[in-house]
Amino acid sequence: MKFFLDTANIEQIKYFADMGLVDGVTTNPSLIAKEGKDFEETIKEITSIVDGPISAEVTATDADSMVKQARELAKIHNNIVVKIPMIKEGVKATNVLSKEEININMTLIFSPVQALLAAKAGAKYVSPFVGRLDDISHVGMELPETIREIFDNYDYDCEIIVASIRNPLHVIEAARMGADIATIPPKVMEQMFKHPLTDIGLEKFMSDWNKTFGN
Ligand code: G3P
Repeated sequence: MKFFLDTANIEQIKYFADMGLVDGVTTNPSLIAKEGKDFEETIKEITSIVDGPISAEVTATDADSMVKQARELAKIHNNIVVKIPMIKEGVKATNVLSKEEININMTLIFSPVQALLAAKAGAKYVSPFVGRLDDISHVGMELPETIREIFDNYDYDCEIIVASIRNPLHVIEAARMGADIATIPPKVMEQMFKHPLTDIGLEKFMSDWNKTFGN
């Protein structure tokens, strides 16, 4: 399973990229706004750090303007994937853009049938949001699981990005079901390293060594 980092924070991207853990990056308007820097400059900088798919989202909500914005975003770098919301206008735009070989990540997917629509329109990726479903008492992870089953039935050339990940368990479940990608916020990536027995074990190794050989 590929790991994407779900952030527009340059320092965090560099930090995890240095460990070889970042196969791609996803952003959205909220994440870009949180950093408060120029949109295009931020995306450009991310492409210089990570050599993999970088999702940049359109902010228009009608198909013509989405197509226009998407074409501009795609010019930034070969690795740009344009993120388009799952609304009718977005599906229309995806149909146009996928024929121009611009890779589309359809976002805000909350039902399997929306994922099916996205794949049929030619999207290269779908982003089911698991955490936001958990927030409203639905079992979020059932969504990518059902999408996996549907895509495998028909061999769609559309990758599943498990998005809106809130904890390491979401990452494990994504990997177990065979999701193509998990897009992970830096905070969750940090949590994934931790196990108390690792810390206790290392402390014991060090203290035993130092008792005999000094430090
Ligand atoms: O990749 C989509 C993600 O950024 C949404 O996450 O935590 O805002 O639901 P969240």
